[in-house]
Amino acid sequence: MLDWGPLEQACMSCQKCALADTRHNVVFGAGVPNAEVMFIGEGPGENEDLQGEPFVGRGGKLLDDMLELIDLDRKRNVYIANIVKCRPPQNRDPLNSEQDACIGYLRNQVALIRPKIIVCLGRVAAIRLIKEDFKISKEHGQWFEKAGIHMTALFHPAAILRDPRRRPETFEDLKGLQAKIQAICERTY
Ligand code: URA
Ligand code: SF4
Repeated sequence: MLDWGPLEQACMSCQKCALADTRHNVVFGAGVPNAEVMFIGEGPGENEDLQGEPFVGRGGKLLDDMLELIDLDRKRNVYIANIVKCRPPQNRDPLNSEQDACIGYLRNQVALIRPKIIVCLGRVAAIRLIKEDFKISKEHGQWFEKAGIHMTALFHPAAILRDPRRRPETFEDLKGLQAKIQAICERTY
């Protein structure tokens, strides 16, 4: 396991998959390194690629609003990262081979942070981290436990923007997340 400095350095110069050829910036992650709650998306979009920071476009604004509803804030009490750290062209889903090449960085981040809760944002992260047959439309908001970490998935902010009917369910899922944090976290609130 690498410590934060060497880990970030290795990631920032990574050439382990072809996404390195088209990226502008590696998007390593953002937030507080001792967070009890981690959010994990699928990969950078256009704005994230240009700015080097996760969830900064329209979807990012929605994510920040969702976090604020339950007193979470990337500057204060959560950490946000992605399955792949470089933008897939045209925002296609990251290939399994790209996820395989990149996932070690995320595993190292999780090992350093040791979160109590991991929240997957969207189906790509949920399939990769919770279970390979995860059905986001049916299983969002449900809780799973793996290696002592409590895990759930929310609809991806971009999916909520595409279909506002997902908002009420997401609000319920956020309330469930808030209750789980109150039950098992010590430093978040
Ligand atoms: N979508 C993601 O999954 N991650 C980001 O960082 C931005 C958009
Ligand atoms: Fe390396 Fe991950 Fe970027 Fe691929 S996506 S080049 S594995 S940092």
